Amino acid sequence: MLKSISVLAVALAGALAAGTATAQTYGFGQPATPAAIAGWNIDVNGLSGAGLPAGRGTVAEGQKVYEERCASCHGVFGEGAGRYPVLAGGQGTLTADRSVQTVGSYWPYAPTLFDYVRRAMPFPAPQTLSDDQVYAVVAFILNLNNIVPANAVMDAKTLAAVKMPNRDGFLTSTWTHDTRPDLHSTACMKNCKSGPVQVISDLVSLHVTPEQTESGNVGSQVEFKEAPAGPATAARPAVPSVTFAQVQKIIAQRCAVCHAQKPTQPGFSAAPMGVMLDTPQRIKAAAKKIGEQAVESQAMPIGNVTNMTQAERKLLGAWIAGGAK
Ligand code: HEC
Ligand code: HEC
Repeated sequence: MLKSISVLAVALAGALAAGTATAQTYGFGQPATPAAIAGWNIDVNGLSGAGLPAGRGTVAEGQKVYEERCASCHGVFGEGAGRYPVLAGGQGTLTADRSVQTVGSYWPYAPTLFDYVRRAMPFPAPQTLSDDQVYAVVAFILNLNNIVPANAVMDAKTLAAVKMPNRDGFLTSTWTHDTRPDLHSTACMKNCKSGPVQVISDLVSLHVTPEQTESGNVGSQVEFKEAPAGPATAARPAVPSVTFAQVQKIIAQRCAVCHAQKPTQPGFSAAPMGVMLDTPQRIKAAAKKIGEQAVESQAMPIGNVTNMTQAERKLLGAWIAGGAK
């Protein structure tokens, strides 16, 4: 099975490399014509305006399009109806506590406005405007923001020449004056850390990311030690090793609420069956039983009321397998 998939993959890769051969050779699909590709290939480069099509539009023409197709959501003056986005105003508010981010206050490049409106607006019927209508409505929105005058005509050339107020707000050029050290360090791509690597926290342990159970990833609990460099050991994979502190933390969280001299779990007044897991000595002495109950049968925590994870069970298993030190 695996082999036949890879044979197919090689055949497909070959077909793709031969351009449109796929359709003819295998009898499915049809070659993408230049016209079909052009229908999708509508991106405009914000910085240079490359990709802007032929056509033109005035502010006055744009006002008509806007009132018919846009104002119901974005407001007659771009102020936004209800919770629809505000398109005008907000200039000078970006550093305020509550900034108003609009085309005029926020967007760095004017050609992007053409790209966005042509691609995505009007929201219920995208790509129903002609290029002339898009140029016109873009001219109108820029005029609403006092960026172009009322007699402006927008086309590929004039639109690319418009300088937006927040043009430099995104650029790293402004960061060169920033003295924070992490903005100036050289990226390290190789042998960046000498000595052991220790993962001390991750999103799994914060319960932000679902844990992986099958792949052997045991989340944050395991400390990964890099194999020492050198020809003799270079091929050795990283070996997870478990510290007692990790074990103790899990037991405290998942077991000791019941298994302690004074249980904190409601309904428990004494350690069930006298099993106490509240000191390092008691935990070590009970290692075998912990393995039976929490790793093998997984009968504990009872009803898993303390939400023990598979990763934690694996970790306990690894600790016991390593001699429960
Ligand atoms: C039915 C309501 C509706 C209509 C009509 C509509 N829009 Fe929008 N517009 C939206 C919504 C919703 C968003 C936000 C979309 C998103 O974030 O994915 C949006 C976003 C935008 C934005 C980006 C705002 C920003 O700063 O992020 C622009 C520009 C825009 N619309 C222009 C137009 C233009 C021009 C028209 C008319 C041709 C139009 N819209 C018609 C609902 C509408
Ligand atoms: C909600 C309370 C609770 C939690 C949390 C809990 N246990 Fe228990 N544990 C019990 C109860 C109740 C019994 C007695 C079960 C019975 O009577 O069969 C028990 C019994 C045991 C026993 C003795 C089993 C035997 O048959 O000898 C061990 C060992 C044990 N638990 C280990 C653990 C470990 C390890 C954890 C954490 C991974 C844990 N328990 C979490 C309630 C709990």
